[in-house]
Amino acid sequence: MIIPSDEIVDKSYIKDYEKLYHDIQEHPEAFWENIAKELSWFKPWNKVLEWKYPYARWFVGGQCNIVNNALDRHQKTAVKDKLAYIWVGQPFDSAQGKEMPVRKFTYGELNTEVCKFANVLKSLGVRKGDRVTIYLPRIPEQYISMLACAKIGAIHSVVFSGFSADALKNRIMDAQSKIVITTDKYPYKDKVLDSKKTVDEAIKDISSVKDVILIKRLKSEAADSNGFQPASPKLQRGEPISTGLNYHWYHDLMSQADTICSTEIMEATDPLFLLYTSGSTGKPKGILHGHGGYMVGVYLTLKYVFNLDSQNQPVNQATSQPGNNSIDDIYFCTADGGWITGHSYIVYSPLINGATTFVYEATPDYPHPGIWWELIQKYKVTKFYTAPTAIRALMRLGDEIPNKYDLSSLKILGSVGEPINPEAWLWYYKTIGKEKCPIMDTWWQTETGMFMITPVPSANLKPGSAFKPFFGVEADLVDDKGNSVPVNTQGFLVIKKPWPSMLLDVYNNPKKYLETYFENESINNQQLTKNNQFLYFSGDSAKKDDDGYYWIIGRNDDVIKVSGHRLGSAELESAFVSHPSVAEAAVIGKPDEVKGEKIKAFVILKKGIQGSDELKTELVKQVRKMIGPIATPDEIDFVDKLPKTRSGKIMRRVLKAQELGQPLGDTSTLEN
Ligand code: WT7
Repeated sequence: MIIPSDEIVDKSYIKDYEKLYHDIQEHPEAFWENIAKELSWFKPWNKVLEWKYPYARWFVGGQCNIVNNALDRHQKTAVKDKLAYIWVGQPFDSAQGKEMPVRKFTYGELNTEVCKFANVLKSLGVRKGDRVTIYLPRIPEQYISMLACAKIGAIHSVVFSGFSADALKNRIMDAQSKIVITTDKYPYKDKVLDSKKTVDEAIKDISSVKDVILIKRLKSEAADSNGFQPASPKLQRGEPISTGLNYHWYHDLMSQADTICSTEIMEATDPLFLLYTSGSTGKPKGILHGHGGYMVGVYLTLKYVFNLDSQNQPVNQATSQPGNNSIDDIYFCTADGGWITGHSYIVYSPLINGATTFVYEATPDYPHPGIWWELIQKYKVTKFYTAPTAIRALMRLGDEIPNKYDLSSLKILGSVGEPINPEAWLWYYKTIGKEKCPIMDTWWQTETGMFMITPVPSANLKPGSAFKPFFGVEADLVDDKGNSVPVNTQGFLVIKKPWPSMLLDVYNNPKKYLETYFENESINNQQLTKNNQFLYFSGDSAKKDDDGYYWIIGRNDDVIKVSGHRLGSAELESAFVSHPSVAEAAVIGKPDEVKGEKIKAFVILKKGIQGSDELKTELVKQVRKMIGPIATPDEIDFVDKLPKTRSGKIMRRVLKAQELGQPLGDTSTLEN
């Protein structure tokens, strides 16, 4: 057990987790209502929570806009001149040496950019409820675009820049987006990636898209010196490329845009964004989040868990005390805006909290594997939030690299995305945090929108455990009938009370919503949930120890977590089967020391086709083409048959047990 210092406890909002948790649990709705009152609303709600199976709606009747809290209200306070973002770009411009561009935005400057871009979107005909796809690398315009959409009530759908044209196409089609925002080209380590080409390919058969907005990340000269043509220099504002489709330079549009834009009044339950994520079956689903509940949930969780300095925030005496940190926090989150961590904890929550967020454009190994530590030293980062896969990769390189830098500004460290093994936890704690920074291992999901199981800085920690549920969250571990399992026993991780930033729905697919989270076939919770009881099925398994600490084991469905990226077996299999030589495929996740899990595929080839190394290479290419480089398979075996049930479903569980030399478990439904 790791006990926090008195200093940490002193500076924490939360001094006594247990007492507060139990007090709140009696009236979680009253608790959330008090928190909601710390934020700005255009009109107060009539009802804090409305639960109509299977939908929970928060702050019903209330009107707000998350951007009113993230930006507008700060314009009248000292936060206006505080930095919202410090962005450091990767070195690239080889013609002029390895300079790293830096861009800083105060809350005032960010607001101006967002207002201008909101006006641009309006001038292109974007209206409340319209969908906008954002396909951008890690540049400030990714955040500006999201906020501009939210400001005018449009629904943003951010697609991670590592997804391929096919994956992008599916996501644009499902959302029926009007606009796509991307770059012409951008640097990725020492390569230049052409995202315009990817977008061109993705939208060539999609009629919903009317406009593409291109942001220039690289100077043309830089691109030239690396053998690339500058992106259509002739491209003029509004120049039609093909009938009904216009390409625009972001910078041209922005130079003519008005700096004043009013913020749309939204119902608390109106949609804010959709974000596609993989499930166990079928195509990725669009997880839909809303303005009101989401903003309350993300606001509070980061504040309490990373103990954000609140000097500049309104304080509600009933629920929180002001932070007494003497310097302002510099909060460094290494996630990409393309994932939920970026949405909740780079964009919305830090801005609502009036914090300064630091972001670095490239990967932790570029231009050298000490870059994160160098940046922490240089910018005096106080709070650092990253993923176990990165910690493990950096740990492997030894202590000498981080030891070269002064990391003494750090106060709190965080982890997210997959279970963190105790060895990596301890390395992070000792070598990076010098045994004085508590580690916040935050368990949550795209669907939950906010931290669900997480420590607070004053908690006693056990390396490898995500501690206990956040305030107002009721978690449990249950068996396949929905009954609680005894301590130290593996069970399905479920949530038993609605929480404010819970997903609103699966976009265009309420059936999927119901069947994934409330009537999941592996748990049989129909009975409970039909009685109007709340039982959210997370898809993870976990254990609870004698002290009530949660130990997350991992997914219990066919979702694979590769370097924290969420991929579905079914989605990977259909990518394999799209290759003309493949008859059938089954994909499983195998443990990997750095990536957490790696992708292993079993492939049946069509009659007459011989397996070869060349074919394996082609199949890897095919999967990268259909999904993207994050889905690169590690191992491919050519096989003659696959274990199936009598109804023809592939039993991936059996394949996995076989592969890992574990007991096969119940094989009574096995056909062969
Ligand atoms: C899945 C959700 C939540 C932001 C990034 C991932 C796994 C997430 C932890 C953690 C163990 C974790 C779960 C979950 N996961 N955080 N701290 N410990 N596992 O979001 O892509 O929606 O993935 O990530 O398996 O279900 P996501």
